[in-house]
Amino acid sequence: MEKPSPSDIRRAFEEAGQGHVFAHFEKLGEKEQAHFIAQLREIDLAELDRLIAEHAGEAHDATDFSDLQPAPYVRHPANGGDPDQWNSARKAGEAALRAGRVAAFVVAGGQGTRLGYDGPKGTFPVTPVLQKPLFQVFAEKILAARRRYGAPVPWFIMTSHANHAATEAFFEESDYFGLGAGSVHFFTQGRMPAVDFSGKIILEDKGRIAMSPDGHGGSLRALVRRGAVDTMRAAGVDILSYFQVDNPLVRVIDPAFIGFHVQSGSEMSSKMIPKAYPEEKVGHFCKRGDRLLVVEYSDLPAEMQAERTADGELRFLAGSIAIHILSVDFVHRVGSGSVDTRLPFHRAEKKIPTIDAAGHAVRPEKPNGIKFEMFVFDALPLAKNPIIIETLRSDDFSPVKNAEGLDSPATCRDDQLRQFARWAQTAGIDLTTDESGLPAFAFEVSPLFAEDAETFAANWKRPASPQTLTAGTCLGEADLPE
Ligand code: UD1
Repeated sequence: MEKPSPSDIRRAFEEAGQGHVFAHFEKLGEKEQAHFIAQLREIDLAELDRLIAEHAGEAHDATDFSDLQPAPYVRHPANGGDPDQWNSARKAGEAALRAGRVAAFVVAGGQGTRLGYDGPKGTFPVTPVLQKPLFQVFAEKILAARRRYGAPVPWFIMTSHANHAATEAFFEESDYFGLGAGSVHFFTQGRMPAVDFSGKIILEDKGRIAMSPDGHGGSLRALVRRGAVDTMRAAGVDILSYFQVDNPLVRVIDPAFIGFHVQSGSEMSSKMIPKAYPEEKVGHFCKRGDRLLVVEYSDLPAEMQAERTADGELRFLAGSIAIHILSVDFVHRVGSGSVDTRLPFHRAEKKIPTIDAAGHAVRPEKPNGIKFEMFVFDALPLAKNPIIIETLRSDDFSPVKNAEGLDSPATCRDDQLRQFARWAQTAGIDLTTDESGLPAFAFEVSPLFAEDAETFAANWKRPASPQTLTAGTCLGEADLPE
């Protein structure tokens, strides 16, 4: 298709009531003009029009929560689930893995603002001794799965405009952590313009629109638009293991989870953990009619978050930790965006740097506009046969979100140490830990040495393994038995 000319674009923006974005256009240099026009080409005016009609003006909260029920889920064997059912799921997942049907997919387009870290979040150092970055932890988990199942397990990484180049460069410098360049696929997510409360697109500068990533829900359409779905289909991949970049504990490739997805003919499956306390900042798995959905912590009324059942358990117990399995056909259906399958946009009021009529920079002190984002969990109500399974927090979830306090590098480091210590103790190693399970000294276990207590015990006991565990021990590939 031929690109619309700059004058066509100008006319389209004027007709859409957005002609003000050209206020300073004549003052721009030739290069800046071209850059500006390229940015305008990214904007889908029809979509924006719809969003403005729906979301501009004051926030209105018309959501009715009265018909919301807690979602059902499959219990983990440690909490009363049926071990035979889990075994059978694990076998089904292993078969899908061995058949090469599975790819890993991380959403890494976020900006890491809360963490106060400047680079792509995946480059943040996270392991207790070697300070391996998040991306390396995931890479080693994928490599371990490739070896275990003799399958290609390609890795798809969604970046944003702001961090794409830096992310690719990081992988190149790190030699793709041994995965091979051809099996790691990067693509950028889409962007949305920000608008003021009257629905006018905000200029960040004379020749620049205020644009921001379209949310992790944008991953579905980006997977389609950037050709990732085609790449997957060509490789025989029909199952996508989705996770967030902030959580090094995640079981990137979890055969039981994949197996539940396959066995139930699900299009989208999700992991839950029981919420630790009512205000915990995780989404809630809920049911409305016969549809499953996630209601964000910021949306579900506090009194509902605190409701308890007769036996004292939180009624809306199932917390979303943003780990999903997606069928590639489902990604294609939702990501191609026919009206019935489009994900909704959420509005977020933000302080958006802009310029005044004279073109001088303005740094607002209170929110002056709206950013639009899609959330991947909004695909759940669109999926056939969705299934939610329980996982253990200690084995799947310890995100790095804040610089200090909850979900920080310090809590995540301790959770990794507790996991390594549990594995070591299960293998019969005499290790002193405090009452929270934290060992007295730091050591670390690469996913290439062990992925869980079972593989740890198997590799530790073999003759070639080291027989002592001391402060600073790092078990890796080199320590594997012959
Ligand atoms: C998210 C979930 C919450 C869940 C919690 C678990 C939302 C709105 N909420 O909260 O339900 O319980 O994680 O940790 O998602 N990202 C992109 N592109 C974007 C925006 C985000 O790739 O445009 C990625 C980030 O890189 C990150 C992930 O999405 O990997 C999560 O984003 P973040 O905004 O940190 O979500 P939370 O508010 O922490």
